[in-house]
Amino acid sequence: MKDVSVKLGERIVLDDVSFEVEKPLLIMVVGPNGAGKTTLMKLLLGMVKPFKGSVKVLGLNPFIESLKLRMLVGYVPQKDRVSYEVPLKVSEVVLMGILLRKRFPRAVSREDVESAKKALEYLGMRDYWDSQFNELSGGQQRRVLIARALASNPTILLLDEVFAGLDAESQEKLLDVFRMLKKNGRTIVLVEHEFDPVMELADRVLVLNRTVCVYGEPSNVLNEDVLKTIYPCVKTVEKEGRRMVILGDRHA
Ligand SMILES: Nc1ncnc2c1ncn2[C@@H]1O[C@H](COP(=O)(O)OP(=O)(O)OP(=O)(O)O)[C@@H](O)[C@H]1O
Ligand SMILES: [Mg+2]
Repeated sequence: MKDVSVKLGERIVLDDVSFEVEKPLLIMVVGPNGAGKTTLMKLLLGMVKPFKGSVKVLGLNPFIESLKLRMLVGYVPQKDRVSYEVPLKVSEVVLMGILLRKRFPRAVSREDVESAKKALEYLGMRDYWDSQFNELSGGQQRRVLIARALASNPTILLLDEVFAGLDAESQEKLLDVFRMLKKNGRTIVLVEHEFDPVMELADRVLVLNRTVCVYGEPSNVLNEDVLKTIYPCVKTVEKEGRRMVILGDRHA
C-alpha cells in the first residue's frame, strides 16, 4: 500500500497508510478498537475504495481486479455476516468456498471433497461433515469458516480476529496450520487484538492506529515505548525467554 487514505461516511478512517510485504510472510496487524484494521483487510480485498493512494495485492489492483484476486485470497471476516437462513450442512459451507472460486459450470469434484475434508481435519472439525452449520457453537462455526478459507488453497489468507473465540486446543491447531502455510510459502495476514499466542510465528508486526504507527520485525516493534503510543496501559513482560505484551484495554 502506498499513501492510502480511506473515508467512511464523513470520517477518515485510514490516513496515509504505506507498507510493503516483499515475500510470503506472516504479518500480524494490531491496534486498538476502531484503528482501521478491518478496513485494511477490506482494502486488500477490494471491498473498500481508497480516495487517495494505491493498493496492489499480488500485482493486482484489488478494486478493479477483485474477482481475479478473490480466487487467490482466503478471508475469514471478524464476524461472519452471512446468515444461513437456508439450513446448510458443514460440508456445503466448506465446499461453497471452493465452488465460488470456480468458473461455470460449477461442479464439485472428488478432489474438492477431499480438500474440504482435509481442511476440516486441520481444524478438528472433520467429524462434523454432516452436521448443520447453524447448530454448531460459535467457536465451531468459526473453525468451519477458517476451514472454508483454507480449502481453496489460497495464496494469501486474511484472518480478522479469529483467535479470540477459539479454545486452547483449537488455537494450537490453527498455529499448526500457520506453520504449514508458512512452509508452503503462503502469506498470512492476521488481525489480532492480543499479541499472544501468535507472536512467536509472526515475521512482521504492523501497529495500526488510523495510520501505520510502526511496521517491522516483532523484536523491534515489541518495545514498550513504541506500544505506549497506542496503548497507554501497555506493559511488556519477559516470560520463559519470550517477551509478552499485556494490553490494558481488552477487546470485548
Ligand atoms: N460503513 C462504515 N461507515 C462509517 N464508518 C465506518 C464504517 N465502517 C467502519 N467505520 C468506522 O471506521 C473506523 C475503523 O473501523 P474498523 O472496523 O476498520 O476498526 P477495527 O480496527 O477493525 O476495530 P475493532 O478492533 O473494533 O475490530 C471506526 O471508527 C468505525 O466506526
Ligand atoms: Mg475489526
